Amino acid sequence: MQRIMDRCERLFLISLALCPLYMLLSCECRKVNGYRFPVYTTAFCPRNETEWEKRASLLNCTSDSSYACLPNENITELLEFCFPQQVISIQKGVCLFLAKERSNLGYVECNYFESGCPTIPYKGSTVYNYPSCISIGNGCFLAEQTYIACESWFGLRPRPLHNKTPDFFQHLATA
Ligand SMILES: *[C@@H]1O[C@H](CO)[C@@H](O)[C@H](O)[C@H]1NC(C)=O
Ligand SMILES: *[C@@H]1O[C@H](CO)[C@@H](O)[C@H](O)[C@H]1NC(C)=O
Ligand SMILES: *[C@@H]1O[C@H](CO)[C@@H](O)[C@H](O)[C@H]1NC(C)=O
Repeated sequence: MQRIMDRCERLFLISLALCPLYMLLSCECRKVNGYRFPVYTTAFCPRNETEWEKRASLLNCTSDSSYACLPNENITELLEFCFPQQVISIQKGVCLFLAKERSNLGYVECNYFESGCPTIPYKGSTVYNYPSCISIGNGCFLAEQTYIACESWFGLRPRPLHNKTPDFFQHLATA
């Protein structure tokens, strides 16, 4: 994967027009800048342990980091990265995202989701057990899609979300 991405970058210098197409065809991934460690977009996160291990080994994380696949802070893209922490412990009732500014993990309280909000504490490495946390579209988690038209309050959601649950989510959670 690294080699493909390196080639992408080299090709990018040669042809601005061709490279996006090349990347689209050869790797679902695109390196995104602005984070403190390498971060790549992906069309979907691994859906089970087998897929997880496969993707994790491609990213080649060091022993003091762990492979993670989570939405970005605006819930508009899924990101793959090595997070500089061996284990990502997550409390119940939340989904994580990667915040850009400090490249730390933020969370969304998800008890207003239609379904699939984790009911027990879990680890970043088993997030595939909670597809609701990693299934996104139109800047929303799919599990919140039908919630009073997520897209209409798209503009209302504070961006970036930062570490705390915004009042808006609090409001939704208790509604
Ligand atoms: C993991 O998911 C892939 C794709 O959906 C599937 O082909 C594979 O059989 C699954 N593996 C396990 C162990 O469930
Ligand atoms: C993965 O990391 C190890 C240790 O840094 C290195 O030896 C190896 O070449 C890397 N593999 C790839 C595919 O980048
Ligand atoms: C999230 O949206 C805000 C406002 O549009 C933007 O400034 C920020 O760069 C976006 N973050 C990401 C990771 O795309």
